[in-house]
Amino acid sequence: MRKIVLSIAATFLATAALAQQIHTLDVNLKKVGAPIQETMYGIFFEDINYAADGGLYAELVKNRSFEFPCDALQGWKAFGNVEVRSDGPFPRNPHYVRLSDPGHPHKWTGLDNEGFFGIGVKSGQTYRFSVWARVPDGGKSTIRVELVNTASMDENHFLCQETLDIAGSEWKKYQLELIPDNTLDKAALRIFLTGNRTTVDLEHISLFPADTWMGHENGLRKDLAQALADLKPGVFRFPGGCIVEGTDIATRYNWKNSVGPVENRTLNENRWEYTFPHRVYPDYYQSYGLGFYEFFLLSEEIGAAPLPILSCGLACQFQNEDSQAHCPVDQLEPFIQDALDLIEFANGDVNTTWGKLRADMGHPAPFGLKFIGIGNEQWDSLYPEHLEPFVKAIRAAHPEIKIVGSSGPDSEGKQFDYLWPQMTKLGADLVDEHFYRPYEWFLSQGARYDNYNRKGPKVFAGEYACHAKGKKWNHFYASLLEAAFMTGIERNADVVHMATYAPLFAHVEGWQWRPDLIWYDNLRSFRTASWYVQQLYGQYRGSNCLSLTMDGKNVTGDEDQDGLFASAVLDGDKIYVKVVNTEASPASIALNFTGLKKVQTVKAVEGVRLTSSSLYQDNSLDHPDRIAPAAFSFKGEGKCIQADVPAYSFSIFVLEK
Ligand code: AHR
Repeated sequence: MRKIVLSIAATFLATAALAQQIHTLDVNLKKVGAPIQETMYGIFFEDINYAADGGLYAELVKNRSFEFPCDALQGWKAFGNVEVRSDGPFPRNPHYVRLSDPGHPHKWTGLDNEGFFGIGVKSGQTYRFSVWARVPDGGKSTIRVELVNTASMDENHFLCQETLDIAGSEWKKYQLELIPDNTLDKAALRIFLTGNRTTVDLEHISLFPADTWMGHENGLRKDLAQALADLKPGVFRFPGGCIVEGTDIATRYNWKNSVGPVENRTLNENRWEYTFPHRVYPDYYQSYGLGFYEFFLLSEEIGAAPLPILSCGLACQFQNEDSQAHCPVDQLEPFIQDALDLIEFANGDVNTTWGKLRADMGHPAPFGLKFIGIGNEQWDSLYPEHLEPFVKAIRAAHPEIKIVGSSGPDSEGKQFDYLWPQMTKLGADLVDEHFYRPYEWFLSQGARYDNYNRKGPKVFAGEYACHAKGKKWNHFYASLLEAAFMTGIERNADVVHMATYAPLFAHVEGWQWRPDLIWYDNLRSFRTASWYVQQLYGQYRGSNCLSLTMDGKNVTGDEDQDGLFASAVLDGDKIYVKVVNTEASPASIALNFTGLKKVQTVKAVEGVRLTSSSLYQDNSLDHPDRIAPAAFSFKGEGKCIQADVPAYSFSIFVLEK
C-alpha cells in the first residue's frame, strides 16, 4: 500500500515538474511600443586585421605608389637597373620607379609585387592592370606585365602575360587586362622592361579584379561587400575605432587625405601595424584608396545611414599619458573645420568647395549625412573640453546633424559614470558605448537598458562582441550570448538607436584582433555565427517593440528564468518573437498573446533557428556553412501557442495576427 502511495506521489511530482517547465511568455498586442529605428542594427568598419588594404578594398598591389616610409620598395622585389625617384606627378605621393637597361643583353630589369599575403587570382577572370608612365627622354618603351607563380615547378611561371607600349615624356595612365589561366591565392605581379629597353618611369602600379562590387573601378572585393549588404545594415560607422585618433595627432585618420584622385591620396601609417607586439605587421599602412567617398558610396549602396567618426583633437589616450600629445582646446579650429567641411562634402551643394569635390568624384547628389561622431574612446575632462567647441560649431552651422559623443572604452566604471552626464550636459544626441566583454558580462546584462534614463541622449552600442576569457576567438557560444544580450537592445528600442558589432573584418593571415564578424583569405571568405546573429536581427528588425514578459518580468536571463532571454516586435501584421536559450537543457515555452479581441487569434507562420553541434566551433574557410540559421517546424493557431526551444539555441518565431 505504501509503495502505491509513493508511486502516485512520484507521478504527481513529475507531472508538476513537467508543468513547471513550460515557460509562458506573455506578449501584449494591445500596446504597440517604441519604434525600432532603421539605424538599429548596423556595421562598424575599421582598417584593422587588413580590413581595407588587403581586404575590402580590392586593390591587389601593395605599396603601389612607392610611399612606404621605411623602404620605398617594401612589397616589391626589384631586379636589374631600378631606381626610386621622388619628383613624380602626384605631389602627395612623389615617389616612382625608373626602369633602365640592365647593361647586358642577357640580364633583365623589372620588379615583382608580392601583394597582400600574395595576390589571389581566379582562372578566366579579368584583372585590370593600370600604371602611370612616361619615357623620360621621349620616344617609346615597352614593358611586359605578368601574373606569376614563382613556387611552380611547371615550365613557365606565368599565369598570363601582356605587353604595354609607353610613349612620350608626359605622364599618362595606361591600362591592360590580364586573364590568368589558373587559380592561385599567392601569385605575384611581375613587370619586365622589354623591347628596346628604353628607360621608362612607372608610378601608381595597380591591379584590380574587373568584377568588383557594383563594378566600380576603384572598387571593393565583391564577396566581402556582399557580406555587408546581406546584413541589411541600418547604419554604417567608419573609419574606426582607434585609427580615428592616431597614435599621435599627425597620424590620426585625416578624411581630407582620403578623397580626390586615388593617385594623390596621402599614405598614412596604421597603428595596428605595431599595437600588439605579439602580432606585428611591418607592412601595414593605409593607402586611403578606400576613403571617405567610397565609404559614403558603400553606405548608400547597402542602404545604411553613414556615420563618420572624426578626431576630436585627442590622440589615442591609451598610448599617450602626456597631455602634450593632444591638440590644445584653443587650437582646435582646423579639427572643427574638418568636421564642418565633411558635412559639406557629404551634403553640400555642388557649388560649394567640398560638395564640388564630391560631384567631381562622381556623386553630384548629396549623400544625406544625418549623423557625425566626434571622438572615439576618449576619457577624463579632456574629452568634454574638446567636444564642447565641436558641438557649438556643428549646432550653429548644421542643427539638422545629430552628434554622437563617447562614454569611453568601458561598459561601466569611473570614466563611464563620469562621461554619460557630461554627454547629457553637452547635449549629445547619442552616446557611443563599447563593450568587449566575457561570457558572464553578457549573461548578466540582459536588463542593461531597462532602467536607462529615457530623457537623455540615445545609446549607440558602437563596438561590442562577446570575448572568451584568455584566448579570444570566434565560436558559437559567444554569438549566442550576443543574441541573448541583443534582446535587451530590442526591448529598449526607445533608448537604444544603434548597435554595431566590432570589429568587422579579418584576414586569416593578418589579424591583430579577434573575434571578428567576417574572415577571409585572398580568394575565399566566410561569415561567422556572430554574423548570422546580426543578420537575423537585421532581417527580423520589425517596426515596433512589443511587451514580452514571463511572470510579469522582462525575460533577461534572470536567476529564476532558466537562462532564457526573449523579446518581441511587430512588423505590420507579423510578430517576431526572439527567444535565446543559454542553458544546457531544452525548454518548453508557451507564447501567450494578450490584448487580442475575443474572436481574434494568432497563427504560427514559420520558425528560424541558429544552433550548433558544438558550442566552441564556428564556420571556417573550409566549412563556411557549418553554422547557419535553419527553418524549423512551427505550427499552431490560437491565443496561446506552444513550442520547444533546444538547449543553446537562438529561435525566431514568426506569427501573423
Ligand atoms: O575594434 C577594435 C578597437 O577596439 C577599436 O579600434 C577601439 O575603438 C576599441 O578599443
